[in-house]
Amino acid sequence: MSETTTGRVPVTITVNGQPCTREIEPRLLLVEFLRRELGLTGTHIGCDTSFCGACTVILDGDAVKSCTLLAVQADGSEVITVEGLEGEEGLHPLQQAFSEHHGLQCGYCTPGMLMSSLALLAENPDPGIEEIRKRLGGNVCRCTGYQNIIRAVQAAARALREE
Ligand code: FES
Ligand code: FES
Repeated sequence: MSETTTGRVPVTITVNGQPCTREIEPRLLLVEFLRRELGLTGTHIGCDTSFCGACTVILDGDAVKSCTLLAVQADGSEVITVEGLEGEEGLHPLQQAFSEHHGLQCGYCTPGMLMSSLALLAENPDPGIEEIRKRLGGNVCRCTGYQNIIRAVQAAARALREE
């Protein structure tokens, strides 16, 4: 990564399978890279304190809060956002389960909830309620009371195990 005369730096981040190269300000947050540079506005910003988890994406296999990282820190990495969940066969089992089990109301927290759940199920295909609670502890929802989110994650886990 070398700085240009404008002070911008080139970065290449593979997002949802597509390598994306941009020249950006070194201070640009990963969440802003996704939203402003790539137009992937499914990743939400819900706070300015690294608290809410609405900005969660998968970075090289781990769930991370994309408002806590600079885009330059993700140079050369692979990122999956909520836009990358849906496949050719339609909604991802997590999206389907959140819909069927009413795991969302306003939906603002939902992209982050889905991405944290995706990382959890990649690690443990059959998590118990306590583990789901713990792993989603960094994702805040003001609407649902969390019970339906936990049911949705369990239902998605079942569906993925049966695939
Ligand atoms: S926007 Fe709230 S934790 Fe990132
Ligand atoms: S569904 Fe509204 S914040 Fe979670």
